[in-house]
Amino acid sequence: MIDSYKGKNRISIEMAPMEGITTATFRRVYTEWFKGIDRTYTPFLVANQTHKFKRREEREVGEYCPELVPQILTDRAEHFIWAAWKLKKLGYTEVNLNAGCPSATVTTKKKGAGMLRDLSALRFFLDEVFSAEETSDMPEVSIKTRAGFSSYDETADIAKLYAEYPLSAVIVHPRIREDFYDKVPDLNAFGIFYEHIDHEKLIFNGDLRTAGDAERIMELFPGIKGIMTGRGLLADPFLPERIKNNESRRKDGFSEREKEIMLGFLEELFDEYERDISEGTALLKMKDLWNFMAASFPGQDKKLKAIRKARSGYEYKAAVKRIL
Ligand SMILES: Cc1cc2nc3c(=O)[nH]c(=O)nc-3n(C[C@H](O)[C@H](O)[C@H](O)COP(=O)(O)O)c2cc1C
Repeated sequence: MIDSYKGKNRISIEMAPMEGITTATFRRVYTEWFKGIDRTYTPFLVANQTHKFKRREEREVGEYCPELVPQILTDRAEHFIWAAWKLKKLGYTEVNLNAGCPSATVTTKKKGAGMLRDLSALRFFLDEVFSAEETSDMPEVSIKTRAGFSSYDETADIAKLYAEYPLSAVIVHPRIREDFYDKVPDLNAFGIFYEHIDHEKLIFNGDLRTAGDAERIMELFPGIKGIMTGRGLLADPFLPERIKNNESRRKDGFSEREKEIMLGFLEELFDEYERDISEGTALLKMKDLWNFMAASFPGQDKKLKAIRKARSGYEYKAAVKRIL
């Protein structure tokens, strides 16, 4: 057992928000079938001048869930405060600010990782949010951030800026925006956040694919609040549990028992999407998920192709049974 996972100072294991993938349906079905996740986040909810969430976004937060942190994407403190208040009324005690999304349509509007381009504007944003938090009963605010926009030279200033505010958590995905999801996460950049920010607020995110990867981060950065996994959890849904038990996956893939659980999970997820939306959308959603799960089935291209080519729920389920 990893030391940092023992006792009351347990590290929190968190599911990364992934737009279109870690939906409310996914989170519900996933947590029914798999153990190990302590907290989940919604994919970003847009807060803008309409002061209204879309129907799809309302569904993400509709049923209050204590281990769920809603994430907000916006460029204006005023809209963030509106969203925080609305979420508070639904029962949420923490909201998360997205300062990491690298998509050009987002960053050109100074949202997501675009917030990191102008630190005085980000300071202004945080000043407004925290003065509202001081004067009224707002939820706690955490942030999910990259280590810079175009260069790691920006990292120290970003870390020092966050250190000035009573953020409840700082989730660091130590890549810069220009890297999108490629290149190796920069552990030196995470180290800069570790130097400037209270360790018990820091959460590491990026490329954790095995229990060993997670253990290495906990050893390098003792005392951090948590670790967050996205693509690693999709490829191996047992990853959070393996991290907690410090168990590695079998070299030859999943055990028969694990395959049975995955099959049950995938069938239920498909059926729930089909019930909520339609067979066609359920099929698309499952294929999106398989783009990430494929990493766990090396050398099985023919079987993976059959999943990609499936034209109905029936064909899809038959193809999944052949691979699991
Ligand atoms: C398809 C996709 C959608 C994502 N959506 C979000 C999102 O809504 N909010 C967010 O903060 N990060 C989002 N991310 C980033 C992930 O939360 C995470 O930071 C990133 O995938 C790195 O972690 P990982 O290597 O464990 O996957 C997304 C990533 C991907 C690949």
